[in-house]
Amino acid sequence: MSLLPRVTAAFAEHFGAEPDVVVRAPGRVNLIGAHTDYNDGFVLPMAIERAVWIALRPRSDGRVRVLALDLGEWAEFDLTDLRRERGWAEYLKGVAWAWQEAGYALRGWEGVLAGDVPRGAGLSSSAALELATARAFQVVSDFAWEPATMARLGQRAENAWVGVRCGIMDQMIAAAGRRGHALLIDCRSLETQPVPLPEGVVVVILDTATRRGLVDSAYNERRHQCEAAARHFGVPALRDVSETDLAARGHELDEVIRRRARHVITENARTLAAVTAMRAGDALTLGRLMDASHASLRDDFEVSSPALDTMVTLARAHPACLGARMTGAGFGGCAVALVKAEQADAFAAHVAAAYRAATGLEPNITITQAADGATIVLQR
Ligand code: GLA
Repeated sequence: MSLLPRVTAAFAEHFGAEPDVVVRAPGRVNLIGAHTDYNDGFVLPMAIERAVWIALRPRSDGRVRVLALDLGEWAEFDLTDLRRERGWAEYLKGVAWAWQEAGYALRGWEGVLAGDVPRGAGLSSSAALELATARAFQVVSDFAWEPATMARLGQRAENAWVGVRCGIMDQMIAAAGRRGHALLIDCRSLETQPVPLPEGVVVVILDTATRRGLVDSAYNERRHQCEAAARHFGVPALRDVSETDLAARGHELDEVIRRRARHVITENARTLAAVTAMRAGDALTLGRLMDASHASLRDDFEVSSPALDTMVTLARAHPACLGARMTGAGFGGCAVALVKAEQADAFAAHVAAAYRAATGLEPNITITQAADGATIVLQR
């Protein structure tokens, strides 16, 4: 949904004028390629219609002053005196810090921000906020928007300022997403290829309404296990290990490490196979690969949850569904399903009722189109 009217009206109310600039950056779902990005592998996310929006105007004093409409909270900071605190403004400060550290001369601005990407749901609200902030700085400071560079800096903001050790996928898709397409990202070279969604199917986001607190520690543990496996094979990352290598030498690994490695290695292969299927318009094969991805995440990588498994099973039981899997880091949050377009509304209603009956939880099920990455929506 466009939040343009909301942020422009709020800007007018608080600043007594029309905004000079409006920017937005999207959340994402990942169709396939889970936990492969920090293994230098392949991912296939698409930007979604839910996004973070900022209406703003430049300031001449090097300060940033922003109202988060959804929280009713102001934040203000000076670009020459960034201090680490807590809360949502750290994402903005982290961007200011990372870009300035990389040598960008930033100007200040003031405005309002609002978003409809739910937080902690696995739809990458933090990358949306980072890349919307980056777009705001880009317009007022007038530097080139090179998506891979912007994504790397956004990841640096998140890793080093916010303190979350994420991979590159979320910032890359928020920076470089393409309407109507998923994006194959090679997380080593950061080369991207837009891949059109097959005709006659839509992507449905299935929010389990569960959130898990321990995601960060489990995520870091998986990263270490993957690094240990790569070290064992004597390569920089699991990207460099083939299914044949694993079959030949997998038995040398500790049992848990072997399963973690097997997930990543087979997931990379599934992701490339998914691209081939999509290019051939073969939604059935794409769906099957998504199913296999979920099984691998559940059994080998062990990052699913009972709620996610229930949602995926219920989705998969509906005849209009071609494939379903958890998306994001896991342990809660959202699943994603590939569904026949003409039955998508019936699918959503059916799965919502079944999930409610099975768990007592109220899910949020939405059909989404593939959206553009971070854009300048309006500039006067
Ligand atoms: C989170 C991280 C990403 C990626 C996914 C799992 O979303 O931010 O970098 O690792 O988990 O695929």
